[in-house]
Amino acid sequence: MSLPSQDPLAGAAGEYRRFARLEARGHSPAYEALAMAVAADRPVLAFLASLPPGKRQPNLLFAAARYLLGEPADIGALRRLAAGRRDELARVMRARRTQTNEPARCATLLPVLAQLPQPLALLEVGASAGLTLLVDRYSYDYGGHKIAGTDPAAPLLACQARGPVPLPDPRAQRRLAGRAGRQPLDVADADDARWLECLLWPGEHGRAERLAAAIAAARRDPPPVCGRGRPARCRLAGQRGAGGGAGRHAA
Ligand SMILES: C[S@@+](CC[C@H](N)C(=O)[O-])C[C@H]1O[C@@H](n2cnc3c(N)ncnc32)[C@H](O)[C@@H]1O
Repeated sequence: MSLPSQDPLAGAAGEYRRFARLEARGHSPAYEALAMAVAADRPVLAFLASLPPGKRQPNLLFAAARYLLGEPADIGALRRLAAGRRDELARVMRARRTQTNEPARCATLLPVLAQLPQPLALLEVGASAGLTLLVDRYSYDYGGHKIAGTDPAAPLLACQARGPVPLPDPRAQRRLAGRAGRQPLDVADADDARWLECLLWPGEHGRAERLAAAIAAARRDPPPVCGRGRPARCRLAGQRGAGGGAGRHAA
């Protein structure tokens, strides 16, 4: 077992090396290289060490840089930001948090949800922009087993089916009686939507298009999400008459 380093620069360097090796490798060569470069860059590490420990994450730094630059950073651009626009960069990193939303997760949720008593009320704790609350609106393709969503313009999610859970019957009525989430980004807010886009990694093909199509679907009929700004009580909208219930958290 290795203990966290007492030296904040060494601690941040270790976190960036770990991110490069275990998270970015195989998904984003650009962010793998960038994280390794940060781990060896004293000025950028010193900038990170000036932030609270929970605000030093690679995902947060890279998304904040992309937010300010309008494109993913390389190590040179990061160095310039950390030197010349230090306060701005720190402000974005302190104000924002990592909140990805991958609608394709719904393709793995749907077969399980379809096994439960219907109709469902879906509560998501940690909903980001609430895009994985739109399970019934997306269409699915499980290797030729196709299921049409209630919004034909919403993304088609392709998934390789393996394992014992049966695929849902395409003829079954899929209706969510209620849905809600908390701690959200506001899907109608251009700045929040841009932040979600900034959290995508360069090299992850298909994600930007899927995210844009899911945001458009959510804007056509936004899922109720609550908790913005301060803790709030969440209520499952339209849950009356629900035959069952389901909840999930992805932190
Ligand atoms: C990785 S994102 C996943 C978003 C979404 N659930 C999905 O699967 O695409 C994790 C989310 O959980 C939220 N979160 C983390 N801890 C939380 C907590 N204690 N209470 C509520 N939300 C939390 C974060 O703000 C973020 O939106």
